[in-house]
This record gives sequence, structure tokens and C-alpha cells, in this order.
Amino acid sequence: MNFAYETYKNVESSKNFSNKKEMQEYRSLLMDRVYKKEIPFFKKKFPKGLGEILEIGSGNSRILYALEKENLITTGTGLEISPSRSEFANIWKKDLKSKNVKNICGDFLSINIKEKFDTILCLTSIFPFFDMLQKNGFNTFLKKVNQLLNPNGILILESVTFKQEITSAITFGGKVNLWAEFKKSDPFQFNLVEYAWDKKKRELTATTYNTMRQKLYIDGPTIKKWHMEERKSIEQKLIKNGFKIEAVYGGYSSNPYKDNSLEYIFVAKKIK
Ligand SMILES: C[S@@+](CC[C@H](N)C(=O)[O-])C[C@H]1O[C@@H](n2cnc3c(N)ncnc32)[C@H](O)[C@@H]1O
Repeated sequence: MNFAYETYKNVESSKNFSNKKEMQEYRSLLMDRVYKKEIPFFKKKFPKGLGEILEIGSGNSRILYALEKENLITTGTGLEISPSRSEFANIWKKDLKSKNVKNICGDFLSINIKEKFDTILCLTSIFPFFDMLQKNGFNTFLKKVNQLLNPNGILILESVTFKQEITSAITFGGKVNLWAEFKKSDPFQFNLVEYAWDKKKRELTATTYNTMRQKLYIDGPTIKKWHMEERKSIEQKLIKNGFKIEAVYGGYSSNPYKDNSLEYIFVAKKIK
């Protein structure tokens, strides 16, 4: 099994929540985040909506439910490798009485999807996983995305650039330990991460432990790996795989990307 499956397999499992109230508070936190970050971007840049969409690595489907609520999609399909996250998304779907979002559990690199889409989203730092999941994984990902898009379909890729983590790791000889505290309504309290940077291969590995708020429980270690490419090399791969670059933003603020941006968002159109 690949690290994406191992890392996320129990995330948002129902057993992390003692009661419905806790789950509701957690859902509010998720929605709060989408309305602050992703939704203003989609409203500003895609006011006419995104049509029939697929989100690859949709997690709990928070973005899809918010887009549905804002009438920015016709239908939304969420593809998620983690069974517990997909289950969380389906329980939420029932409570929201969502009609136009469906959730599928599977690995994008191996699943067979028959439908075609107007827009494909791959957000929150997942697209740099694919090279680490299999050799030339990002190219394979782009080829498959291209086949799943309707003519002139749009692909939106977003990731943080990890510039600060990489700089800190370099400062401390290749590895750095960082921590952060989650918001109060999160069942977990502290996030402890070791970032290791392989400069030659441009590979970043995060080894994470999360400590629970109410229970003496530490979740971890979980491993994530990203192939952090420069803007140019991502653009070249998009072009090689039949896309035209429409815009590169430096984050959801939709300012143009700069060398010191902490995030990048590529908007590309299928032209071949
Ligand atoms: C950082 S989370 C973001 C989730 C969602 N996009 C959001 O913003 O709430 C990345 C998700 O991608 C999923 N994922 C990683 N590799 C995947 C793959 N090969 N196929 C499907 N899902 C994948 C993970 O399980 C995880 O839930």
C-alpha cells in the first residue's frame, strides 16, 4: 500500500468524535476555513461556475459541499483514497441533504472513471504526491486528467510551496522539527512534524505525530512525501500533456505567483 493510503486511512474516523455535537463543531470549523479561503477565489475567478467537476483527493468533501451551496457546480464527484474520510463525507452528505455531490473511495492512479468533467480540481498539496507514489506519477496523473476532461476543460492544481519548511530544514542541516496547535474544536491538539529535505531530488518528507485533546493518544508516525518542483517545470509538464496555462496565482488571494509565494495555483485548459 502507498504512503497516501497509510497516512490518511483513519483520518476523521467516526471514533474520533464522542458525540454528534463534537462532529458538528468540527464540520463548522471545516466550512469556516473553506469560506475564508477557497470559496472567495472560486467566486471571483469562476463566477459562472465550474460545471461538472471532479475533485481528486477530496478528503471530507468540504470544498464540494461549499461549492454546491454557492451554486458554483452542476455536479461534484469527490475521489478520496481514505475509507474513513470518504465515510465522513458520506455521513455529512446525508445531513446536508446534498443532491449533486457524490463520493467515491479509491486511488486516482488505479481507479477507472467513466464520466467526463468540465473541471478537475486537485488542491491542498496533493499533486506533488504523485511522483512519490510511482515513477513519473505526475505525468501519469496529467495524462489521466487530460482524458477525463471535456474539450476545453479546466484543471486547477494547488499546493503550498513549503518554502519556509525547506529553508528551515536547510538551515538545520537538512532536517527540522516544527509544531503547531490545532483550533479548539479539533479533536487533536498538537501537530508535531519533522521535515527532511533532499535538495538533489527536490523531495520533502514530513513525519508527523498528532496528540489528542481529550485522550492520552498520539496518532503517528504518519509519512507524507512531496516532489517539490519549480513553477517552470510544472508548466512544462502541463504543456507537454496537452494543456495551455491560463494563469498561475500565488495563492487563493489570486495575486500573480512570485518567486517568494508560499502557495501556487495553476489554472490550465485542455487544448489537445
Ligand atoms: C491534504 S488532504 C486535502 C483534502 C481536500 N482536498 C481538502 O482540501 O479538504 C489530501 C487528500 O488527498 C487524498 N489522496 C492522496 N493521494 C490520493 C490518491 N492517489 N487518490 C485519491 N486520493 C488521494 C488523501 O487521502 C487526503 O485526504
